[in-house]
Amino acid sequence: MAFVESLELFWRGCMGIERSDSPAWLSSWPSDVSLSSRSSHAVQAVKLYHELAEWWPEFSDPKEYRRDTAHFRRVLRKWTGPAPLTMLELGSGGGNSAFHLKAHFAMTLVDLSPRMLSVSRKLNSECEHIKGDIRTLRLGRTFDVVFVHDAICHMTTEPDLRAVMQTAYEHCRPGGVALFVPDYVRETFVAGTDHGGAGRLRFLQWVFDPDPTDNTYLVDFAILLRNQEGEARVVHDRHVQGLFPRARWLQLLREVGLKAVLIKDDEVRDLFLGRRPLQTPNGAKQKKIS
Ligand SMILES: C[S@@+](CC[C@H](N)C(=O)[O-])C[C@H]1O[C@@H](n2cnc3c(N)ncnc32)[C@H](O)[C@@H]1O
Repeated sequence: MAFVESLELFWRGCMGIERSDSPAWLSSWPSDVSLSSRSSHAVQAVKLYHELAEWWPEFSDPKEYRRDTAHFRRVLRKWTGPAPLTMLELGSGGGNSAFHLKAHFAMTLVDLSPRMLSVSRKLNSECEHIKGDIRTLRLGRTFDVVFVHDAICHMTTEPDLRAVMQTAYEHCRPGGVALFVPDYVRETFVAGTDHGGAGRLRFLQWVFDPDPTDNTYLVDFAILLRNQEGEARVVHDRHVQGLFPRARWLQLLREVGLKAVLIKDDEVRDLFLGRRPLQTPNGAKQKKIS
């Protein structure tokens, strides 16, 4: 019964129905059900990376990242000269990608959420972890590769997307590359549902785009969490994510100074690879910083 009513509560949240018409007993649940606002950078409100961060290992298994990270390494091998040795990951989250990549690169991992960083530290204690906003981060050093995986989806405006591209440029050594892996671009977007989870967590994920004319789509998660006593509660977490056409991606990458290409892949996803030129736009050779 509690499960069914919790689900009802979730759907009330989706429909924007106020809690005030809920039966009294429902108010004893924590205030889990809310609609996050569609602000330009609403990631601070994403429960998964903050109050639920400790559940990340049950939400997302490093095994699910093995195939994709192997593909990214093949792409990097093909598009870089001498094998790259150092990698900066922007928005590294729980460190699932790093778990597979750290055998091949000396990795520095950056994320805004201290709680996600702490999950990642447990998995990747040998990697450097830094708290920072990937739109404004300036470490004052450069890397062979800057890698931005699904964190880029949280950039919902062109200025935010461009700011991360600028960060990537600033941290690429001359001749180095930046690899961006958005979940979708406008041309590849597909609405749908998925589910997953392990241990005491299960989730339903519902991807949809209420307005195909704007630059965002929505991912709603209904997350069921079971406590030690076996009781389940449901949390609704809404992620507003960015959706930009391929041509806009390429244009913004070029605007920040990267020589950009789109790498299409039917099995994995579109990738954008940008190389920082060895020459500055006025022709002077750039000094390799590190
Ligand atoms: C889906 S998770 C990344 C998961 C990661 N790919 C992994 O392997 O575990 C997205 C991450 O992006 C981070 N993020 C979103 N916006 C950010 C920003 N402006 N600066 C830094 N991190 C950000 C979130 O805190 C979250 O940890």
